[in-house]
Amino acid sequence: MEKFSINLITKSIKKLLGKGPHSLHEPSMGKKEIKYISNTIKKNFVSTKGVYVHKFEKKIKNYTKTNYVSSTINGTQAIFIALKALGVKQKEEVLVPSLTFVGTVNAISYLGAEPHFIDSNIKDFGIDCKKLENYLRKIIVFKNNKSINKKTGKIIKAIIPVHVFGHPCDIENIVKLAKKFKLKILEDAAECLGSFYKKKHLGTFGDAGCLSFNGNKIITTGGGGAVLSKSKKINDKIKHLISTAKIDHKWEYIHDEIGYNFKLPSLNAALGLAQISKLSYFLKLKRELFYRYNNIFSKIEGIKLFKENKNSKSNYWLQTLILDHKNISSKNKLIKAAHNSKIFMRPAWKLISELGPYKKKQKMNLEGAREIYNRVINLPSSQSLIGKIK
Ligand SMILES: Cc1ncc(COP(=O)(O)O)c(C=O)c1O
Repeated sequence: MEKFSINLITKSIKKLLGKGPHSLHEPSMGKKEIKYISNTIKKNFVSTKGVYVHKFEKKIKNYTKTNYVSSTINGTQAIFIALKALGVKQKEEVLVPSLTFVGTVNAISYLGAEPHFIDSNIKDFGIDCKKLENYLRKIIVFKNNKSINKKTGKIIKAIIPVHVFGHPCDIENIVKLAKKFKLKILEDAAECLGSFYKKKHLGTFGDAGCLSFNGNKIITTGGGGAVLSKSKKINDKIKHLISTAKIDHKWEYIHDEIGYNFKLPSLNAALGLAQISKLSYFLKLKRELFYRYNNIFSKIEGIKLFKENKNSKSNYWLQTLILDHKNISSKNKLIKAAHNSKIFMRPAWKLISELGPYKKKQKMNLEGAREIYNRVINLPSSQSLIGKIK
């Protein structure tokens, strides 16, 4: 074992990845992407018409083995529209980890609903299920088959388990807990295309699940997202809402409620279709990158690389370092030194409950989430770092 040193860490990463610069995650494009995009342009179906959206949704459906897929303009609006379709209403509370991307929480706010922040654990970066159960037992009273927050008097309607950095959270136990407390479950699997728990794709455990195809994800549509759902009714509702709530008619414009223009355009779907054909190759590269980083970090004391848990198959979207407690004070110094060497590491998200718009919202004790923020650093993780992309 070698002694923990910032210099040793940055040097070893540089030796592995080359001179750089190395961003946290960049898209991997090739000839197929150009071909599919030009086809869309040539056919003049760049927006909502054309074959690519349907084809892309079918690929996602078959790969994840979900019942239904609706693609959307991004992952944030996928979460928003899924919560709406699941029946979350103004002033109702939604349990959400404080350790997530801000989009998860903003989607709750767009509905006029209330985020209620819950804790995460360093074991899988997801919801700390045991701690949450104890907390809910204290704060909830059941009325008319609904969970009511004793303190606010509001209905606690849903929970959003977030699978962080591509790794499955304790989803089976969360589903059991949600049933006990009569909560709808929307999985935020934005970062998790290609990740499974007990061979079941993430985003297919709850009432609905969301994916993101933003430029920094394992596959991209430029901007884009999808809702995976079990029920036809939910999917039909989503498809209707994201297409401006328009009633099918050959020429008349009839909209039967206030809808949204949130459908994934065909141009983006074309890109996605080319990308998804490379997913298994990307997953291989990600795993190989994990092994190579692990080879470095298993030889340095006081720091380790996050490894997928039992029963989990991660897509290793991001490679994550965990500092021992005694090295927490080196986190910012390490990130700064790495940036000076053009290795663009990033910390985990700042807790959303500590950001201006969310400071006053309901929350439980968040020491697990704070521990993750203090100990975690994400490494450059693009699949293109170690493999040729054709
Ligand atoms: C955990 C998580 N949730 C939600 C989102 C939102 O997705 P998008 O950026 O496509 O809106 C992202 C991605 O950026 C994410 O990482």
